[in-house]
Amino acid sequence: MKTYKIKKFDHCELYVSNAKQAAHFYQNALGFQPIAFKGLETGSRDKVSYVMKQNQVWFVLSSPLKSGTTIGKHIDIHGDGVKDVSFTVDSAENAWKETTSRGAISISKPKLIEDEKGEAIISTIKTYGDTTHTFVERKNYNGVFLPGYNVMHSNSIAEPTGIVHIDHVVGNQPEGKMNDVCNFYEKVFGWHRFWSVDDKDVSTKYSSLKSIVMANDNEQIKMPINEPAKGLKKSQIQEFVDFYDGPGIQHIAMSTKNIIETVKKLKANGVDFLPTPKSYYDDLKNRINGIDEDIDQLANLGILLDSDENGYMLQIFTRPIQDRPTLFYEIIQRKGSQSFGKGNFKALFESIEREQANRGNL
Ligand code: FE2
Repeated sequence: MKTYKIKKFDHCELYVSNAKQAAHFYQNALGFQPIAFKGLETGSRDKVSYVMKQNQVWFVLSSPLKSGTTIGKHIDIHGDGVKDVSFTVDSAENAWKETTSRGAISISKPKLIEDEKGEAIISTIKTYGDTTHTFVERKNYNGVFLPGYNVMHSNSIAEPTGIVHIDHVVGNQPEGKMNDVCNFYEKVFGWHRFWSVDDKDVSTKYSSLKSIVMANDNEQIKMPINEPAKGLKKSQIQEFVDFYDGPGIQHIAMSTKNIIETVKKLKANGVDFLPTPKSYYDDLKNRINGIDEDIDQLANLGILLDSDENGYMLQIFTRPIQDRPTLFYEIIQRKGSQSFGKGNFKALFESIEREQANRGNL
């Protein structure tokens, strides 16, 4: 019997070297509005954070304001990346007590934070590598984000791109570590295995991967865990692990209700997506029928499509959003299918491998 409930993804906090410029990208390229701020002006002397929001997706972009900080050290090791994936819970105290009693390492005990808009309780545990999970209980808080942040009145209003919520958050592991991490989510959180692929399903001439999707009770949280599998050349998962210097968040998938419109807007804003070979769409016409979208339009935008017995899903992946070939984003629209695009892995891998070869990492 669980003593707490995870309701949904709350927010993801990224440690970045220049939060001000990152906020500009999230606003003007991805369509997120800056809604809250913490920094020198609010009395935070060593850390600055911008809270970016679009519908139900919240990102916190944080940078150090001086040398010798844990954020600075994290950026030195990993580059810009996702530090924390937080969950909205009904009790941050019980979530912390239960997960730590089941073996999770505590990063910070439950603490009450408050300001004139109310109070919230947060607690944090460690997961793979330097990545953490924060439990956020905010039922008694009426401010825009959390206590300690000031409302940010930006001079410009973001043009939304139709991003609605976080569908899943993927973590890459070093070779042989995937099962340990899945066992951690089973043991510490009581989550279940929702979906998986192995190297028999996903391999190209050069490389392959294994992936298991872990899900919480209400399946609002889905966290695929990847590891590289042996191939002739270096797996893209290994490339991530090399450049992130350990395990970490590989991509965050964000949903839309109209992927064609969302991708058009993102492309017009300069967001860079992985290209899909034209041959993929010839195969697609044979593989799938009865879809609402025009295949030529999908081909022009490079949107991938996969189906299962419940329906289909459309997805597309950005290129890495920083110079290290690490974190990227996925845009996904589900039309019945709850799958993770098994039929697309090969096409996607081939596309990523062309890019890896360009970087001299294949
Ligand atoms: Fe994904």
